[in-house]
Amino acid sequence: MTAGVPKDKDAVRVVTSNQTGPHENLPGIVWRHQQHVFRKPIAEHTRAAFDQVAAIVVERQQPIILDSGCGTALSTRCIAHQYPAALVIGVDRSEVRLGKRYEDRLPDNALTVRADLIDFWLLAAEAGWRLQRHFILYPNPYPKSVHLKRRWQAHAVFPTLLKLGGQLELRTNWQIYAGEFALALRLNGYEEAAAERFLPDDGDYWTLFEKKYHAAGQALYRCIVDLDMA
Ligand SMILES: C[S@@+](CC[C@H](N)C(=O)[O-])C[C@H]1O[C@@H](n2cnc3c(N)ncnc32)[C@H](O)[C@@H]1O
Repeated sequence: MTAGVPKDKDAVRVVTSNQTGPHENLPGIVWRHQQHVFRKPIAEHTRAAFDQVAAIVVERQQPIILDSGCGTALSTRCIAHQYPAALVIGVDRSEVRLGKRYEDRLPDNALTVRADLIDFWLLAAEAGWRLQRHFILYPNPYPKSVHLKRRWQAHAVFPTLLKLGGQLELRTNWQIYAGEFALALRLNGYEEAAAERFLPDDGDYWTLFEKKYHAAGQALYRCIVDLDMA
């Protein structure tokens, strides 16, 4: 297996869950997270990584696009080509995935950083970052209902993620995840948020997971919302 390429058995498996719709506890959890400011100790390595990236952000003075959970950073490349005026930052905690080599080098307006997203988002919000766009492409679904709080929409960091602003786009192959994400957004005042099916243009896959899911005939879903329009 090539380093960083999703394992076939994981990538093409349809998500199965003991949930048949949005988790019934989600509204209560979202509400609780709105009432409390989320704080946690920040890992030193993430702080150091963030500081390095923040210095580049200050130097470049470009609009910022985050590719959160970028995996092998194929999407970071695609996004950087699509938005050449922006600085595209791919963040992932997996050294193996980030280490995957492609034939072309990263475009000049892109970089990747190994960091935990929870700490990275907290630091970005603390530093007052306002994003132009934010992509969360095929996050780990954590489909067991007991793992609800591991999904971004039910995580205590969700209000911080919203604070970063910009046009937020989530993509997933699990309809319930997309529906829950949209519901959490609506509960935060983004009334237009909705999950929709989408079809990637043939040959124009932004991520390796997207390619495998689509090739396996799975439906793909996305939720796009402008966080600056609350
Ligand atoms: C299912 S993969 C999708 C990767 C990529 N977006 C794609 O579509 O090919 C989810 C990615 O999120 C990363 N990830 C999950 N939780 C994370 C966290 N807390 N901090 C940083 N990366 C995280 C994982 O390392 C993994 O690369």
